Amino acid sequence: MANTPQAAVSRPASAESPSSAETAFRARLEIFEKCRAFTRARETREAGLYPYFMPIEESHDTYVFIDGQKKIMAGSNNYMGLTHDPRILEAAHAALDKYGSGNTGSRFLNGNLDLHDRLEAELADFMGAEEALVFSTGYQTNLGTLGALLGRNDTVFVDKLDHASIQDGVRLGHGRVQRYGHNDWAALRRMLEAEPAERGKMIAVDGVYSMEGDIADLPTLTRLREEYGAALLVDDAHAIGVIGETGAGTAEHWGLTGNVDLTLGTFSKSFASIGGFCVGDSVVIDYLRNNSRALIFSASMPPASVATVLKALEIIREEPERRERLWKNTRKMMEGFRSIGFDIGPTETPIVPILIGPLEKTFLFWRALFDAGVFTNPVVPPAVPDGSCRLRTSYMATHTDEQLDFVLEQVERVAKELDVV
Ligand SMILES: Cc1ncc(COP(=O)(O)O)c(C=O)c1O
Repeated sequence: MANTPQAAVSRPASAESPSSAETAFRARLEIFEKCRAFTRARETREAGLYPYFMPIEESHDTYVFIDGQKKIMAGSNNYMGLTHDPRILEAAHAALDKYGSGNTGSRFLNGNLDLHDRLEAELADFMGAEEALVFSTGYQTNLGTLGALLGRNDTVFVDKLDHASIQDGVRLGHGRVQRYGHNDWAALRRMLEAEPAERGKMIAVDGVYSMEGDIADLPTLTRLREEYGAALLVDDAHAIGVIGETGAGTAEHWGLTGNVDLTLGTFSKSFASIGGFCVGDSVVIDYLRNNSRALIFSASMPPASVATVLKALEIIREEPERRERLWKNTRKMMEGFRSIGFDIGPTETPIVPILIGPLEKTFLFWRALFDAGVFTNPVVPPAVPDGSCRLRTSYMATHTDEQLDFVLEQVERVAKELDVV
């Protein structure tokens, strides 16, 4: 209660002089003013169009139940469809029995399991890197890596569409931050050129952009890396499992394994769990292991989650047919949406946005689809520019043709009803 806006506005019984009590009262009001002024969520809720924090009551991989109603899940990041695989569930149960429900501490002190170490060894091998470091979330991986590496004499260059965890990570570091427009190579080159030669330089990009679904142009980025001596960091959250011959992500996709200094990943997508990792040269990984605050000052991934990722990695490596099925589903949806008349932007991956445009129409579209039994995610400003609101849809290896046909039928029906195409 003490931190709520309501608490802030109740006047304290204070023994202080009226003027200092009044000043303190006003200062506290000021802190919470932004909360009182924030009405957007309440208004959207009142209009029955609030699409966030939907309580899922039951999940069955490709479909879920919300409010007792079945919804086809076309808005998750469960690309490999592994969250309900019996082999994964068995591995998670066995880890629960052996290690308990949580580690109650950071890996640095008392929360490191042999399972974490095994996972790191297997990830390094899978990614073709010297070493890996496992964090508790993908978000923390970016914070912990960028925050630890960027010193006062360094400059980091970030794409404006990079994920929030990169944008936040660079703010935690002490370096200079330069932002260039999405894939604006001329601007990036100008910025690199203007930077004094003696400063450390890093370019940080998403491997697959999470709202657009396009793949980073690593041939250009690795050329710039060579020319300007910049380190290259690639966040492969949406790439691992999905692209590359073995599913090792963006560098493998472009045939450029070994030309990226640090590759980051998350376990909350293809790996059907939670957690994240960073791979690179041993000397860098060991520095991070001993200096990364997000790693050292936060509790480690719980046992069942680590066991899930170990099993998921084994399945991803042994069953390439899953990736083939994911791509078959993705192509079907891309073609289906295009033939309805939608603009799906530059996507090249299972993230398939359908561009709607105005905010209100996007929320109405989302709601009509939701009521018809299709779960999608509306993406609105500030995540995208005004007037380019979209529904982000995404696909899994385990979606059936019948489920995907249902999604296409409902999208087409709603689009016609709302006059969107
Ligand atoms: C590109 C990218 N990086 C990092 C993250 C954060 O990962 P996590 O949700 O596992 O913390 C996400 C999550 O959506 C992402 O899309």
